[in-house]
Amino acid sequence: MMADTNTTREQGNDSAMLRAMEFTSLGRTGMSVSRLSLGCMSYGSPDWRPWVLDEAQARPFFKKAVEAGINFFDTADIYSTGRSEEVTGRLLNEFARRDEVVIATKVFFPMGRGPNQGGLSRKHIQQACEASLRRLGTDCIDLYQLHRLDPVTPIDEVLSALDGLIQQGKVRSLGVSSCYAWELARALGHSDQNGWARFVSIQNHYNLIYREEEREMLPLCETEGLGVIPWSPLARGLLAGSRTALDDKASTTRSEDDGFARSLYDQPSDWAVVEAVRDVAKKRGHTPAQIALAWLLAQPAVTAPIIGATRLPHLEEAIDALNIELDEDDRATLEAPYQPHPVRGLGPSAMRQAEGPSVSPSRNKGKRSK
Ligand SMILES: NC(=O)c1ccc[n+]([C@@H]2O[C@H](COP(=O)([O-])OP(=O)(O)OC[C@H]3O[C@@H](n4cnc5c(N)ncnc54)[C@H](OP(=O)(O)O)[C@@H]3O)[C@@H](O)[C@H]2O)c1
Repeated sequence: MMADTNTTREQGNDSAMLRAMEFTSLGRTGMSVSRLSLGCMSYGSPDWRPWVLDEAQARPFFKKAVEAGINFFDTADIYSTGRSEEVTGRLLNEFARRDEVVIATKVFFPMGRGPNQGGLSRKHIQQACEASLRRLGTDCIDLYQLHRLDPVTPIDEVLSALDGLIQQGKVRSLGVSSCYAWELARALGHSDQNGWARFVSIQNHYNLIYREEEREMLPLCETEGLGVIPWSPLARGLLAGSRTALDDKASTTRSEDDGFARSLYDQPSDWAVVEAVRDVAKKRGHTPAQIALAWLLAQPAVTAPIIGATRLPHLEEAIDALNIELDEDDRATLEAPYQPHPVRGLGPSAMRQAEGPSVSPSRNKGKRSK
């Protein structure tokens, strides 16, 4: 019950508008994060993905988020190949107090074509961290996350390099993203054995259409006290009810381009979940996006979903979803159509299409990390 034990509701009127945001601790750290995180993959440069908003277009989203009390922002070096970090750093500097916001970024995917431009070697981690600090315009990253685990670099090299960043004051806490539960359990064991800083959170793929994380990962996180910050909480738009079919390529700019979404969600039961969300939304007088978020926010292991917003109402609806409580009937309707999925969204190959340039084939030839 991590998200619930120390959740507080803060009222304030720092800005003209009344703020009412829920905060909770990130895992077992004392760092307070809002129960929504703004995902910054959507902000940077449309040259990277046509649905990405540039800095001018992104400005109102950061303003609105900060005014609403959101203090948790997630980006990655690979998003818009660095531009997302730059935009995130500048706009937070413009609208927020640096000592109040929690900035999360990630390392792993290749930032260029050379053999040391990606992965999790000590060399790349140190270089990537310096580059992220520069782009974000900060001297310390609040949450530094491994975007994926590296099949080549030994896990002890990865973990000791990360611990070094903490010792140097360049990073405050460590997180990991989609991986197998056994890989995370093993990494936590190595950190404990060596006295290194351990991961405090996982950023994983978890939503009403993809619930495989409930088997192993969420119980592990609850047992070990890790924060859970799910990515693509609306199944990349499907659960928001704005798509006409699983393979819809026409409804929005993103749906035209998001082949990764189509690779993740392709079972008939996935569409049945979308319809169940629409039914509950209609019954409760909310939007489908709000119902899908309310369901995720109520999962005991979940700290804060990382939302994506390309129109301001997306963000406004997400903020309002914090006040929605689903009853048992609603939850049963939403959960009934689910059918198990093959494991998806883990590992370098799964993310090539979605997140950036291919991982160099030579890196993939290596054995699993030792
Ligand atoms: N660690 C990882 O591997 C990983 C992977 C993916 C994402 N992430 C993180 O997770 C964040 C969120 O990912 P995501 O953008 O895929 O999340 P998402 O919330 O599942 O999808 C966002 C999309 O849903 C649609 N949408 C959102 N609210 C809506 C509303 N109220 N009404 C109608 N449509 C709505 C929009 O689609 P349209 O633009 O089509 O309108 C929006 O672009 C990213 O920014 C990133 O920080 C991490």
